[in-house]
Amino acid sequence: MDPNRDNLFIRFSAFWLGLGIVLIFAVLLAVIALINRGKPDDFEALAAQKRYETKEAVEAAQAEELTKEAIDAAVDEVAKSLAASKPVAVETPEQLVPGSETAKRLAEGPGADFAAVDALTEEGPIDEAVMAMGKAQYLVCAACHGQEGQGVPNLAPPLAKSEWVTGPVSNLIRIQMRGLGGPITVAGVDYNLPLSMAALNYQTDEQMSAVLTYIRNSFGNEAAAVKPEQVKMLRSEIGKPTLTVKDLIQP
Ligand code: HEC
Repeated sequence: MDPNRDNLFIRFSAFWLGLGIVLIFAVLLAVIALINRGKPDDFEALAAQKRYETKEAVEAAQAEELTKEAIDAAVDEVAKSLAASKPVAVETPEQLVPGSETAKRLAEGPGADFAAVDALTEEGPIDEAVMAMGKAQYLVCAACHGQEGQGVPNLAPPLAKSEWVTGPVSNLIRIQMRGLGGPITVAGVDYNLPLSMAALNYQTDEQMSAVLTYIRNSFGNEAAAVKPEQVKMLRSEIGKPTLTVKDLIQP
């Protein structure tokens, strides 16, 4: 048996030690409570308090009345920097401002007014002057699609015998306006090329309709001409994200 158990002195001091520890904790809790008095006790309340402080700071700043000259100078400054900034094309849906004109245009989705463009496509003789202009314009395309529209491995699919080329004109114009990327099947062959085709919308209505008429009537292809009016109708496509096959009308 432990000899200390019956030692009165040890029992006595153990009692006071225990009581002391309890007291220390009680005092500690009281101090903590005192320090936190008046402070919010959860994160939500803490955040609310921060917001309130910000609101007070803003109101104080607003209360310091600005002169008309100061406001005019600030507006002038903003207008200047806006005028100097280059507009940036919206590339991904995350960049859209909800409710903006661009968002509304995009929300219309495919098929909005493309049928009206395609309805203007007419069979008929192909103008030689237009073909000549298209051939000159095709030099740009040839870099990727090949001199004879045969395509270049790992760069671009063929235009020769491509159902996309002889298909709906609105597809072709939109590809020029917005570029095209992602997997595509051309003449029965699946392509998943490393680089997308960039938009080539710097071309005039006449140049673009000519080059599209040219590819529709070269390399063994045969299809109706593309009209400058049709190109003009789809200028609103400029600035929208790069197309993928699912944005196009299946040819
Ligand atoms: C920088 C290379 C490049 C240039 C220049 C280029 N394209 Fe393309 N083009 C591509 C690629 C890559 C694709 C396939 C896009 C994809 O992966 O979905 C493509 C696809 C196409 C398609 C649809 C698929 C097909 O093969 O039929 C058409 C039509 C087309 N281009 C027309 C043109 C015309 C017209 C020009 C010139 C005005 C042109 N391209 C210039 C790279 C290019």
